[in-house]
Amino acid sequence: MRAVTWHGRGDVRVDTVPDPAIQEQTDVIVEITSSGICGSDLHLIEVMAPFMSVGDVMGHEPMGVVREVGRDVTAVKPGDRVVVPFNISCGTCWMCAEGLQSQCETTQNREQGMGASLFGYTKLYGQVPGGQAEYLRVPFGNTLPIKVPDAPSDDRFVYLSDVVPTAWQAVQYAAIPQGGSVLVLGLGPIGDMATRIAKHLGAGQVIASDVVPERLARARRNGITVIDSTDQAEVVARVRDLTDGRGPDAVIDAVGMEAHGSPLAWAAQKASAVVPDAIMEKVMTVAGIDRLAALNTAIEAVRRGGTISLSGVYGGATDPLPLMRMFDKQIQLRMGQANVWRWVPDILPLLIDGDPLGVDEFATHRVPLEQAPEAYANFREKKDGAVKVLLQP
Ligand SMILES: NC(=O)c1ccc[n+]([C@@H]2O[C@H](COP(=O)([O-])OP(=O)(O)OC[C@H]3O[C@@H](n4cnc5c(N)ncnc54)[C@H](O)[C@@H]3O)[C@@H](O)[C@H]2O)c1
Ligand SMILES: [Zn+2]
Ligand SMILES: [Zn+2]
Repeated sequence: MRAVTWHGRGDVRVDTVPDPAIQEQTDVIVEITSSGICGSDLHLIEVMAPFMSVGDVMGHEPMGVVREVGRDVTAVKPGDRVVVPFNISCGTCWMCAEGLQSQCETTQNREQGMGASLFGYTKLYGQVPGGQAEYLRVPFGNTLPIKVPDAPSDDRFVYLSDVVPTAWQAVQYAAIPQGGSVLVLGLGPIGDMATRIAKHLGAGQVIASDVVPERLARARRNGITVIDSTDQAEVVARVRDLTDGRGPDAVIDAVGMEAHGSPLAWAAQKASAVVPDAIMEKVMTVAGIDRLAALNTAIEAVRRGGTISLSGVYGGATDPLPLMRMFDKQIQLRMGQANVWRWVPDILPLLIDGDPLGVDEFATHRVPLEQAPEAYANFREKKDGAVKVLLQP
């Protein structure tokens, strides 16, 4: 089959790789019809490169049609339309029962000291082949795939794999009071969706910061108050003006480890690019640092006693945090990979009844799998208005 494969920093290609096959009798094989490119994929071709290998199949936001099922699969059958969550979770362990699918005890990567495996991700998360491909092997066929109706088109359901549950969890963790205020940092797919969900769930004032013109324009069209800057002092000053001088009740960081505005950490991350990956892998696990500009803005901007919700991914082992400031301001901090299945029962009915979150028009680009290298480059450079790209094999 054809699949998007990792070849190095900034280098993804479309290669022919072996078709996946049933390995366990609870596996299913899904023929992929749509698969998103995510901000997390960009970390893999930059900062997280030391944890990747040439030939790894990328992608963790797929949906498609079940083509083959193992003997013990009863929950889905060939022909069923399914979305595949980005967490590989068993659905039956203690953590899954608690709604903490990103910590699934069946797939936790204990030798790495990390949580549940993820599709199309690093050695830290199991290095499992991903879904930017024609076919995907999905384990736990009775509990992992999300069955969705045969209509309407893929756009309606594909974001159930990651974007909508991630943004939903970001908003839940932000604990915005009814009618309260939230600042969303970053208007990539995750931040943009978080603004929509915050409004949908009753936030009174939704403010967002970014500098990419198309992303700001999109949010403005949805009635979001935008700040066209990512400079900490400016964002903090403008958001205070909008919130009685106090700061918002909550801040959602939808940026993560590759924020602009962190020159020192940026230089360290760049320098790491010339160190052999085998060495860098060790250095990063004990001494890695992130670009913390967005998180620092969140800490300064949030009101005293407010909540910061991190959905942007961080990977530093020794990040310096202003704990005195955080303690003094009595900040509450919640974070983590989204627990996709935790939120499916809340989200799926919304997608079936109509389109209150505007997912039908959410993608800016739908391109054939073969054009993945150009699509990645555009998304990475934020060119050609690329906000959300769907690959369609
Ligand atoms: N927690 C999860 O389960 C989960 C799931 C999916 C994605 N993510 C993470 O969410 C983050 C965003 O993903 P995305 O797909 O929206 O990516 P993206 O790269 O398209 O979006 C990031 C946006 O942040 C903006 N930005 C950069 N620095 C900023 C700053 N200092 N202040 C404000 N905005 C700034 C950029 O201009 C960009 O528009 C990534 O870190 C990704 O790994 C987490
Ligand atoms: Zn993703
Ligand atoms: Zn589990």
